Amino acid sequence: MPNVKKFVCKNCNYSSAKWQGKCPECGEWSTLEEQVVNVVKASKKRFGLSVAGTPIAISEVTTLKEERASTGLVELDEVLGGGLVAGSLVLLGGDPGIGKSTLALQAAVNMSALGKTVLYVSGEESSYQIKMRAERLSAKSDLLVLTETNLESIIAALSSNKYDVVVIDSIQTLYSEEVNGVTGGVSQIVYSTNSLMRFAKSSHTAIIIIGHVTKEGTLAGPKTLEHMVDAVMYLEGERFGTMRLLRSIKNRFGGVGEVGVFEMTGGGLREIMNASSIFLDEASLGKPGSSVACIVEGNKALLVEVQALVSKASFNYPKRTTSGFDNNRLQLIVAILEKHMKAPLSNYDIYVNVAGGFKLEERAADLPVALAILSSLKETAIARGIAAFGELGLSGEVRGVQHLEKRLKECEKLGFKKVLVGGRKEVKDGSFKKLVVTNISFVGDLNLEIKK
Ligand code: TYD
Ligand code: MG
Repeated sequence: MPNVKKFVCKNCNYSSAKWQGKCPECGEWSTLEEQVVNVVKASKKRFGLSVAGTPIAISEVTTLKEERASTGLVELDEVLGGGLVAGSLVLLGGDPGIGKSTLALQAAVNMSALGKTVLYVSGEESSYQIKMRAERLSAKSDLLVLTETNLESIIAALSSNKYDVVVIDSIQTLYSEEVNGVTGGVSQIVYSTNSLMRFAKSSHTAIIIIGHVTKEGTLAGPKTLEHMVDAVMYLEGERFGTMRLLRSIKNRFGGVGEVGVFEMTGGGLREIMNASSIFLDEASLGKPGSSVACIVEGNKALLVEVQALVSKASFNYPKRTTSGFDNNRLQLIVAILEKHMKAPLSNYDIYVNVAGGFKLEERAADLPVALAILSSLKETAIARGIAAFGELGLSGEVRGVQHLEKRLKECEKLGFKKVLVGGRKEVKDGSFKKLVVTNISFVGDLNLEIKK
């Protein structure tokens, strides 16, 4: 019995001897794919027959300083931990249409202008389409392009020349004759990634692979891909908004959680250096229902406008609708305000919106959200120049959050005059000369801030 069939889930790698409609491991439907395993080959491997590897003392390992190349995009360099490391395999993930190809092409063009030999391999678009895109980005330098989907042909092309940087767009379009399974399926993706990894290490070429993310939010097919590569970055954003966040999820050569901010324009992705200001809408600030949250995303403190609309409920069951903020968290904040401030919110519909398509995930946003709600309820504006951050607790306490100094610095930099800070931790006298820092330790204290 040389060949045995098994069925492997392309989402979670679960394997089963028989086909099933639903994967018992991850619960996805129609994700099991047939794979043929050569049992004879596998069973012939005996440990005793292998050649022993030679361990060496760690002190004798020669260290090479990582060679890093700038991508010409400061925000991207930062997310990579200071540039693209030679010989590394980087995964750039994101929803279809979010701008992965655009970002990769921009980086490729820049690096080629900086004197690197760069190859852009595309299995998704024709060379004509890539040229059109490059023209749109007003690319000034030349770039080598290869449209190919066969893994063996790609590796052969890569071996025939010394490339410093290679972009693979996308990993889901590659197929190899060496393995079974459909293009884009788990076995093809894993095999291709492994081959590219080996090539990157042996040839000292930096390879950026692009991967689409499925609706479920995991990299199409295997999450396993994340374990295999050196660094994983995700490009996120609202499909119809223009803001894009590039986030590092994993990095063997730098810190994780780094965030780069970009804006999608007609001429490609534009880096936003002073990200804070773009999430603040001058027109609506200083109107009832608007507050400013100071949050920390990765390495950056950002000021983001939060809007709330509290209006009389027309049905018995009041609505709670959010965009950019967790709905359950809103319900909790509303319950706290009702209980501890006697705010009559059960008679009102509440809508919360975060400006700029930004997603507020940090607990530090509780306080500004509460402020926006109270401000709309009382139809009293919070004065311009006030920002807030703090976490609400069930007994009405407001807690401090991390990165106090970093947040306050950003507020001061953007010309804010006063900051409401959760908790009791006070800042040292004189460290923020242009800011009035007010500690809020109980939600009841907010009454003072929103006076009619
Ligand atoms: P793309 O990079 O093709 O996305 P992905 O590779 O992640 O699927 O970007 C697609 C979108 O970006 C498309 O809707 C058009 C838009 N776009 C711009 O707005 N400006 C530009 O300069 C470019 C190249 C694309
Ligand atoms: Mg693309």
